[in-house]
Amino acid sequence: MKKKLSVITIVIFSLFQMSISKTLAQSPDTKELYRPAIHFTPHTGWMNDPNGMVYYNGVYHLFFQFYPNDTHWGPMHWGHATSKDLLHWQQQPIALYPDSLGYIFSGSAVIDEHNTSGFSKDGKTPMVAIFTQHDPILEKKGAINFQNQSIAYSLDEGKTWTKYAGNPVIKNPGIADFRDPKVSWYEAGKKWVMTLATKDHITFYSSENLKEWRKESEFGKEAGAHGGVWECPDLFPLEYEGKKIWILTVSINPGAPNGGSATQYFIGQFDGNTFTAFDNTTRWIDFGRDDYAGVTWSNTGKRKIFLGWMSNWDYANQVPTVAWRSAMTVPRELHLKKDGNSYYIASMPVKELKNFEKKKAVLKNFSGKSLDISQKLGLLSAPCKVDLTISNKESFSLVFANTIGDQVVMGYDNNKNSFYVDRTKSGKINFSDKFTGVAFAPRIMKNDEIKLTLIIDHASLEMFADDGVTVMTEIFFPNQPMNRLLFEAQQETDIKDVVLTGL
Ligand code: FRU
Repeated sequence: MKKKLSVITIVIFSLFQMSISKTLAQSPDTKELYRPAIHFTPHTGWMNDPNGMVYYNGVYHLFFQFYPNDTHWGPMHWGHATSKDLLHWQQQPIALYPDSLGYIFSGSAVIDEHNTSGFSKDGKTPMVAIFTQHDPILEKKGAINFQNQSIAYSLDEGKTWTKYAGNPVIKNPGIADFRDPKVSWYEAGKKWVMTLATKDHITFYSSENLKEWRKESEFGKEAGAHGGVWECPDLFPLEYEGKKIWILTVSINPGAPNGGSATQYFIGQFDGNTFTAFDNTTRWIDFGRDDYAGVTWSNTGKRKIFLGWMSNWDYANQVPTVAWRSAMTVPRELHLKKDGNSYYIASMPVKELKNFEKKKAVLKNFSGKSLDISQKLGLLSAPCKVDLTISNKESFSLVFANTIGDQVVMGYDNNKNSFYVDRTKSGKINFSDKFTGVAFAPRIMKNDEIKLTLIIDHASLEMFADDGVTVMTEIFFPNQPMNRLLFEAQQETDIKDVVLTGL
């Protein structure tokens, strides 16, 4: 085996070390097995979708599907957490409780700056939540109209909430899956637009006051993936070379490219009434098995920050954590990229992550077939980030391992032109027969150089390839921490650089 190290530079420096070790603690019990360090988890209880994400007065609000009394899905509440930097979250008291109209399912929140709703009092700006109420009693009776849309408002920045007396604001028209309203202000038409998942398509509504809604149009019966129910949509513009392009994201379960749940997206135009896709191609924002129901924060101007639930309905209720179930992904900033005539979303971890970089080790210009990265740059210690640039498009694998043989293998297969993550030997896998196996993601960009950013926490790997055009998020449950990283290839491979950064 020929190995050539032409230049090795190892730079180690410390930044913000003191403040980090204190502030990264998100829960009273951070030593708990699998509790992530830089991903939000509730202290205890069950969590699924992110909800009502809104930025206001310097604070990011994250509401979420929450069942506080058990670690399995149950009667849904909206939990609440706040952060000033998108990475350190403080859990707050529960925001919304189930009531006579049902559980509080997914939805969104907006800042009603011009008091269109009339909910303002004493000059206070209303934060308005728009969500689905799911009536379990009607559902059990076999009725079809058990999901309806309701609203609530807060005049103290999300601390306390009043439900609107006129709920529901949109009554079910006879569609069993009728949920997850995402509302945003459409400035050109001076109105609110609601994007709602309605079984196998999206229905758009609009309103001047958040209380009275009219149906505008439908999209998607013939577009994209249809292997399951459509859920948790979002609609927002992104700029590309000064042009406004509209993105419609739609989560789907089941029917994901690697089984279970995932989020697809469409690229097109929205004129205030109708969304028209440029094509009917199915695109996925994240090909991994563990990024679902993601949507963007509202009230962040042109910046679009996306957050998903880091699990999959195939096994979310069985994962081997004890006090809580599920984490959120790292928040990601969305941009548009073009390959030929096609636009793609590129999602990368938010720039705020840079503020937590602690310790960096760099290795440059390696050619060879195998490299023990942790021997050269130090053992991995989650949370950390690995950035890697590979000059030639040969197959390779990166093996994350511990000393007892658990491993997660992330790689690129040149024959399939695909990235992959194999968690067959990743530790605890027997809690569900759907958890094990290999997930694949097609490489979309065509250039030779492959750039990877990997975010590693105690029980997750997030892979951003080609500046975020191909993304894979995967969770795993090793029997001991994964602290070794090996690079392996069948052909001589040129690595331009590897950077290991402590977070
Ligand atoms: C998506 C979802 C939503 C629903 C919520 C219920 O994961 O099924 O469609 O509102 O979860 O918890």
